[in-house]
Amino acid sequence: MEDPEKAKESDDEKKSCGKDKPCEGCDGSGKHENGHGNGHSNGNGDDEGIDRGTFMRGAFTTAVVCWGGMTLTPIFMYLAPPKSDGEEKSKVTSLEVCKLEELPKGTGRNFRFGSFPAIVIHTEDGQLHAFKAICTHLGCTVQFRAEKQNIYCACHGGEYDASTGKNIAGPPPKPLPPLKAEIVDGKIIVSRV
Ligand code: FES
Repeated sequence: MEDPEKAKESDDEKKSCGKDKPCEGCDGSGKHENGHGNGHSNGNGDDEGIDRGTFMRGAFTTAVVCWGGMTLTPIFMYLAPPKSDGEEKSKVTSLEVCKLEELPKGTGRNFRFGSFPAIVIHTEDGQLHAFKAICTHLGCTVQFRAEKQNIYCACHGGEYDASTGKNIAGPPPKPLPPLKAEIVDGKIIVSRV
C-alpha cells in the first residue's frame, strides 16, 4: 500500500511542473537549473505552434518561389530576343563557299561563316545573295526552299525573300542580316558587309 506521505509529495511534484513526470533538474519549485522559469511548454501548444507556423510560412514561400521560377522561366525565354549568335567572337571576315558550278541557278546552300550559320543563294535570274541563316524570330537556322524559291524557317513557318532577305510571312519580325556574295576566279566568296 502506498505511503500517504509519499503520495502527497508526488502530487506536489506534479503541481510544480504541471506534468505527470517532472523534468530533469526540476527542484519542485517550478524553477530549473537552466534558470529559464519553469522551462516547460505551457501545455497549450504555443511553442510548438510558433515553430509549426514558421515552418509552414517557410515552406509556403519556398513553394511560391519554385512555382514562380518554373512558370516564368519558359515565358521569359520565349519572349526574350534570340541569344547572341557569337558573331562578335568570330574572326572570319571572308571565306570561299564552293565553286560557282557547284551551286546551280535556283538552288541555295547552307554553310558556316565562322561561329554562325549562313546561306548563299543562286537565284534563277543568275544573282548571288548571302545572309546570316539565323531566323530573326527565335533563332532557328533557315534554309532555301527551291519549290517556292524563298528562304524558309521550319520552326514556325517563317519565310524570307531569297533576293533581299526580307521577312515576308510568318512570325519573323525583321529581315535576315545580309552578307556579301561574289564570284572570284569561278568560286563563290562570301564576306561581311
Ligand atoms: S524561329 Fe523561325 S519562325 Fe520562329
